Amino acid sequence: MTQTAYRAQLLTFNGDPAQSSNAAVFNEDGLLIVENGHVVASGPYAALSKQFAPGAHVTEMRDKLIVPGFIDTHIHYPQTDMIASPAPGLLPWLNTYTFPTERRFEDPAYARDTASFFVDELLACGTTTALVYCTVHKQSADALFAESEARNLRMVAGKVLMDRNCPEFLRDTAQSGYDDSAELIGRWHNRGRQMYALTPRFAPTSTEAQLEACGVLAREHQDVFIQSHVAENTDEVKWVADLFPGHRSYLDIYDHYGLLRRRAVYGHCIYLDGEDRRRMAETGAVASHCPTSNLFLGSGLFDFDAAGEAGMPVALATDVGGGTSFSMLQTMNEAHKVARLNGHHLTATRMFWLATAGAAEALDLGDKVGTLAAGSEADFVVLDPAGTPLLARRNARCESLEELLFSFALLGDDRAVFETYSAGVRVHQRYAQRGAVAPCVAA
Ligand code: GUN
Ligand code: ZN
Repeated sequence: MTQTAYRAQLLTFNGDPAQSSNAAVFNEDGLLIVENGHVVASGPYAALSKQFAPGAHVTEMRDKLIVPGFIDTHIHYPQTDMIASPAPGLLPWLNTYTFPTERRFEDPAYARDTASFFVDELLACGTTTALVYCTVHKQSADALFAESEARNLRMVAGKVLMDRNCPEFLRDTAQSGYDDSAELIGRWHNRGRQMYALTPRFAPTSTEAQLEACGVLAREHQDVFIQSHVAENTDEVKWVADLFPGHRSYLDIYDHYGLLRRRAVYGHCIYLDGEDRRRMAETGAVASHCPTSNLFLGSGLFDFDAAGEAGMPVALATDVGGGTSFSMLQTMNEAHKVARLNGHHLTATRMFWLATAGAAEALDLGDKVGTLAAGSEADFVVLDPAGTPLLARRNARCESLEELLFSFALLGDDRAVFETYSAGVRVHQRYAQRGAVAPCVAA
């Protein structure tokens, strides 16, 4: 298979920028060599230019910045059409907009159409991997996986489990949820680049029997993901305490059913205490911080200092449609401000790590995505420092990598994404007609 190469500014990471001042690896004149969907090498152009095979095609984009594809660790694809729906907080928002919208996924054609638009939108924003909530209907997960497989994306998704405290039309049962999840794991987990996530929506919408069944599945399938919500909103936290008396905390319910472990990802994690954070760190469960959602729904402020002190793994997420943007750049923008309000200075360099290698490592996918290191899957984004007139003016005056990344994070969105590549194939081009980029077939 022929090699392709990209001459551009390159950014990748070899660690957490909060721990090491050399964690960000930046090459102002870099070369990324790709073959067979994988990175062959990346580094300084001067050192690598003689390495690529005769006949290799080099794309010159020296005015652009290539970074690993973004990873969104918590997003609801069925909520695409209800993004930006106003409500006075989480619980009314769920009842007024979310549940009626998710009902529409009874219809496989609606699910397919939404999945296609959703994936287009992710790629337009440079997101190449996401942890995706579907609805309670198993065909909603089939639709998302089929769309992702057609474009050869590495995606993690799961059918929502919900057997109480929601409308009758969205309920499964402990047994049917178990059976449907097991069937979907059999059909999709590790098929090409697709991976499954057990998805109990949150403790209030599952009976103890359902959480128990989910724990059994988690033990039977040690390498599947688990995703849920925890401690997002004060009314929710009070409700959970009433529903599950006798547990030390909200998080402790998931712990009790064996749902805290590596590859378990919990959205929000705002109202945790020190003991909860210590358990997250000890088990390797990941806190998925969703700043645009937390601000939009008025949920609260994630505590980066407490997370850091406890050693709790953290990653970033949009949480669309509670979140207000598909863009991980816009998510960084709000993450910076949430941290600021809590007296924590979250650098842009660390936010880019959190959205790429940091997320991949937290999800136990560090050998596959989130990096430009040799051997990894060639998922990357080409960012345009002149993506908007304002970005162009600001970036002309940047004096450091941190300033450049900060400007992308604060001012950037899908207009800053010039191209997106998945497994070495271009899957999005800015300004190309939606649908004009042909779906690729797995290599
Ligand atoms: N908690 C339970 N379900 C949801 C959801 O769909 N979005 C958010 N933000 N929180 C939830
Ligand atoms: Zn959510």
